[in-house]
Amino acid sequence: MTALLETPKGSLDIAAVPRAELGPAVKLSLIIPTFNESKNVGPLIEKLTSLLDAELGDAYELIVVDDDSPDKTWELAAKIGESNPRVRVLRRQGERGLSTAVIRGWQVARGDVLAVMDADLQHPPEVNIGLWREIERGADLALGSRHIEGGGVSDWSMLRRLLSRGAQMLGLVILPGVLSRVSDPMSGYFMFRRSAIAGVKLDPLGYKILIEVLGRGRIKWVAEVGYVFRERIAGESKVSSRLYIDYLRHLIRLRLATLSESRLLRFLAVGASGVFVDMGMLYLLSDPHALGFPLTRSKLVAAETAIIWNFLLNDAWTFASVARGQPGLRAKLRRLLGFNAICGTGLVINIGLLNLLFNQAHMNRYAANLIAIAVVTGWNYALNRSLNWAPIRTDE
Ligand code: GDD
Ligand code: MN
Repeated sequence: MTALLETPKGSLDIAAVPRAELGPAVKLSLIIPTFNESKNVGPLIEKLTSLLDAELGDAYELIVVDDDSPDKTWELAAKIGESNPRVRVLRRQGERGLSTAVIRGWQVARGDVLAVMDADLQHPPEVNIGLWREIERGADLALGSRHIEGGGVSDWSMLRRLLSRGAQMLGLVILPGVLSRVSDPMSGYFMFRRSAIAGVKLDPLGYKILIEVLGRGRIKWVAEVGYVFRERIAGESKVSSRLYIDYLRHLIRLRLATLSESRLLRFLAVGASGVFVDMGMLYLLSDPHALGFPLTRSKLVAAETAIIWNFLLNDAWTFASVARGQPGLRAKLRRLLGFNAICGTGLVINIGLLNLLFNQAHMNRYAANLIAIAVVTGWNYALNRSLNWAPIRTDE
């Protein structure tokens, strides 16, 4: 039997039971996505085989999913598979990208537990044993984390740490219910039960496949095992700045797909209407054909008008149920001041972030502005919801 498998096509969902023609079931299927990893895949498989043989005997499989690498990683992996029956290989042609590669691997997996790790030896292979034991104890998902005891990153610059943490914060704002469940949502090293994701339509983008599984899966018990993210020795990272945009789009996509309440949408609609108020006022006050006042003073008045406009709509519509519970003019004024303070701070963050991304991270200015606006909108929404329109607990 050759180690090369046929690549699944069509939708990205995972069956509840592995297809019979894939062969006898195993306990664990570990996916190793590769692109130009011919220097790493051999040593990794060797290490994994000795570790997992001791823990699981022959009840596991390693599935290399290679995107038709120019360095022929798939060919090398298939060759290893000829003498190592645990190794199977997908040579994917046509489709590209890390997240979908991993899912294609899970689709041909025969395991009851599914897993993924990087091929480049940056994920220490031993951690698989800890993850497997957490699953055996009953966890639905076990995650390798750099941000708990025993975890860390080797030699990262201040900027790289900042970007990684910034991405995590952004996710926390947009998808708090998903990202706050784990200490390291950016990790690409984890294991979970097939039943947690079976039948769910997956639709990921970019690199952060864990967020997709956490966001759409049926996962109650999450366990974490610390690991140190090692430096790459051979081959190159495939990360590019486009992946930041993909990440943001992925967050928004998941947010919309898992929206449990319409308040965020209302808040966004109100925000959009506020832009027109701001524009209209700016015209009225500063345009030479209208009143012709100086620009900065006009803008301040225009912005404040828009803030009051947004406040009135949010108070009467977005957060109406909360506002009704806090009647009276005093309470309303307090909410207006709170709204002003939060939006004001948001503006400062907006400008700061725009500068950071543009000047320090050398991002395209419009991409940077888009991210800054998204973060601040999330900030405004999250703080207004949890502080300003927070239901007051009354003692029964
Ligand atoms: N099949 C396939 N297709 N594999 C890919 C692709 C692709 O388009 N892009 C990257 N890979 C493989 C790489 O060969 C490697 O095995 C793994 O995915 C990670 O890619 P790197 O380019 O080395 O990413 P990284 O080191 O910056 O980040 C990784 O590790 C982080 C920490 O756990 C990623 O996996 C992150 O998602 C993860 O958080
Ligand atoms: Mn890497």
